[in-house]
Amino acid sequence: MTFQIVSLPGDGIGPEIMSGTLDVLASLSKKYHFEYHVTEHLMGGCAIEQTGTPLPDETLAACQHADAVLLAAIGGPQWQDPNNRPEHGLLQLRKSLGLFANLRPTRVSDHTVNLSPLKAEIVASTNLIIVRELTSGIYFGTPSHWDTDVAVDTLTYTTHEIERIVHEAFKLAQQRHKKLTSVDKENVLSSSKLWRQTVNRIATQYPDVTVEHLLVDACSMHLLKRPSDFDVIVTENLFGDILSDEASMLPGSLGLSPSASFSTSGPALYEPIHGSAPDIAGRNKANPFGMLLSLAMCLRMSAQREDMATWIENIVDQLIAQKITTPDLGGQSTTSEIFEILQSRIKEVS
Ligand code: NAD
Ligand code: IPM
Ligand code: MN
Repeated sequence: MTFQIVSLPGDGIGPEIMSGTLDVLASLSKKYHFEYHVTEHLMGGCAIEQTGTPLPDETLAACQHADAVLLAAIGGPQWQDPNNRPEHGLLQLRKSLGLFANLRPTRVSDHTVNLSPLKAEIVASTNLIIVRELTSGIYFGTPSHWDTDVAVDTLTYTTHEIERIVHEAFKLAQQRHKKLTSVDKENVLSSSKLWRQTVNRIATQYPDVTVEHLLVDACSMHLLKRPSDFDVIVTENLFGDILSDEASMLPGSLGLSPSASFSTSGPALYEPIHGSAPDIAGRNKANPFGMLLSLAMCLRMSAQREDMATWIENIVDQLIAQKITTPDLGGQSTTSEIFEILQSRIKEVS
């Protein structure tokens, strides 16, 4: 059956990293006999420009009917209307597709260990995954409003919302190194007290997994001090957002980090964790690896094509080893040069 992909290139560097990634998919699919169909849709600032809204109905409908959604990045300084921002479209898309479980892996390989801003002996062999709750918490609580005198955000978690993400994290830990770090702010927040109590209750169902609790401020420190001690980190929406950008720097660049978001059923969404990088947009400097590694996650987890996923992950490793990278990783290649090199490597696939 033909695998149906919706592509959302978005704004800023989004279209630059998406187009080359789809070209890679096209060439690689011929070699690997993978049948797919991709349709492109508007989302983010570009959708506001053309339709007045960041997530047009037809884009949402296309995503709902797809097997997987690939998103590059949205947002930018030109879209600051507090009532109509590109970011609202992304949050609405996540909520509408029920994408409560967001996986954000970070790995430091032999080739990235010296690209890290931290000492090699500290980051060596780091291999962790942040399981971020994606459809609740302070991002979605009501009331939420502001005026010149006061601003209100509401942080709500139900037991059910905590349970389902924590179960996903325990199951993942069982398949990995059987260590789960739960991150909260239990010393201050009510939602975190419920979070920690729920983790402890569920832990009895996974006796083979070792559980560690960290307060979020301490965790941000431990991520720099002992990153290789972590295996699976589970946390709520806002903490996961912040900690995953921090973790992305362990191998040297935010531009390297992919992600995958899942619901209980229906299409998954794959996107790099970085944004539209307005400071480098249009300059052929964007690191395409986070987007390519997001495609690899899509091929593995939604299309069951481990072979193609592994090929992409290996080639990214090889290019980094050969110092064929964009400037954020210390190299001198442009985005389009990297895509050209990838096309020539695909030609060598037998
Ligand atoms: P950002 O992630 O866009 O950029 C932060 C820094 O990292 C910038 O210096 C940027 O140049 C660099 N960077 C990011 N991705 C890179 C890449 N692939 N290659 C090289 N360098 C890269 O964060 P920001 O500047 O705080 O936000 C810009 C816009 O992006 C905002 O509108 C924000 O809301 C949006 N955003 C969108 C997403 C998304 O689409 N999923 C994620 C984060 C931020
Ligand atoms: C991310 C982004 C989004 C988030 C923004 C753009 C809404 O920062 O995907 O990490 O905060 O979730
Ligand atoms: Mn973020």
